[in-house]
Amino acid sequence: MGSHESVANTLTSFQKGTQEDITAASISPFADEHYTDFYDGHILKFMKPGLGSDIELIWETLHHLLLNSRASPINVVDMGAGTGRVLRGLLEVAYAQGIEKLDVKFFGVDPGDAMLRRGKEMVDTNDRIRGMADIDWVESDSLNFTTDQPALYNATDLLYFAGGGFNHLLSPTEIVGFLREVERALRISSPNALAIIVIQSEAMPSRMASIPNYDGELSVIRSETMPDITYEKSADTKTWAGPYHVDAFGLKVKSTKDGSVLKEFKFRYDLALFDEEAWPGYVEKAGLRTVKEKDYGLGRAFYLQKK
Ligand SMILES: C[S@@+](CC[C@H](N)C(=O)[O-])C[C@H]1O[C@@H](n2cnc3c(N)ncnc32)[C@H](O)[C@@H]1O
Repeated sequence: MGSHESVANTLTSFQKGTQEDITAASISPFADEHYTDFYDGHILKFMKPGLGSDIELIWETLHHLLLNSRASPINVVDMGAGTGRVLRGLLEVAYAQGIEKLDVKFFGVDPGDAMLRRGKEMVDTNDRIRGMADIDWVESDSLNFTTDQPALYNATDLLYFAGGGFNHLLSPTEIVGFLREVERALRISSPNALAIIVIQSEAMPSRMASIPNYDGELSVIRSETMPDITYEKSADTKTWAGPYHVDAFGLKVKSTKDGSVLKEFKFRYDLALFDEEAWPGYVEKAGLRTVKEKDYGLGRAFYLQKK
């Protein structure tokens, strides 16, 4: 048992992101309102919707399921939904195609309550997509969602885990635990029910050398929803402990009126690299099989079904 194991063992579940705030008690960044506001602006810089995005990739499958499933509505889980970037993106794609109503019940699952609140608010205040589908924002995580949300047990038609969320699972035990939950969730009576695990190239050892570091510089982001706020994010420092990647940066919440710093945080994320060699074994162990693999703009997607 080397140092890699001990890094994983010091970290517990949702865990993975920590925050030091000079004005508040130490909590996860995913529980802070300013962080969620900053997150939405920041993520758009490198995860743009449109052709080649994970949203288009997932829409392709969702659209196929809508045309071919007997269930009505179909149940769709956005695992690690965060602020609903993908979920909202899917609704925007449907809207752009002239679809007024989707026969989908979405479950946006995330352990970060502030992320979920933000997701709900961003749907509810958007005239294009509000009311287009039924959405439950569920505070749970990848290891417990069928227990916390029994409606998803043996009743899930599509589950996707996108946007780097999968890399918050730090140990083989967590990864297999999550995949077993997926196996429990997928609707047994549906030959189409499947899960899409999206892995970004920056987390894949065979690809990462060719990936530019988008976070390597100071960036200033104007809040979309709070006109008086600007975020100043420091360059990331990335350090490695074997397959674990510690990503840290500072965030200043500034007043646009006088430039004063209202809050200052230091964030730290512990992320695991995707273990390409071990992955097929994890899938097998959980009672799943890989039915397809597909590259998209920022990485690779694995399509899994029950064995
Ligand atoms: C980088 S964000 C991605 C959010 C969203 N999917 C997107 O693409 O914008 C990662 C998310 O994973 C969530 N997360 C962390 N650990 C998790 C776990 N064990 N199960 C489910 N989600 C988790 C975090 O709360 C966070 O919202």
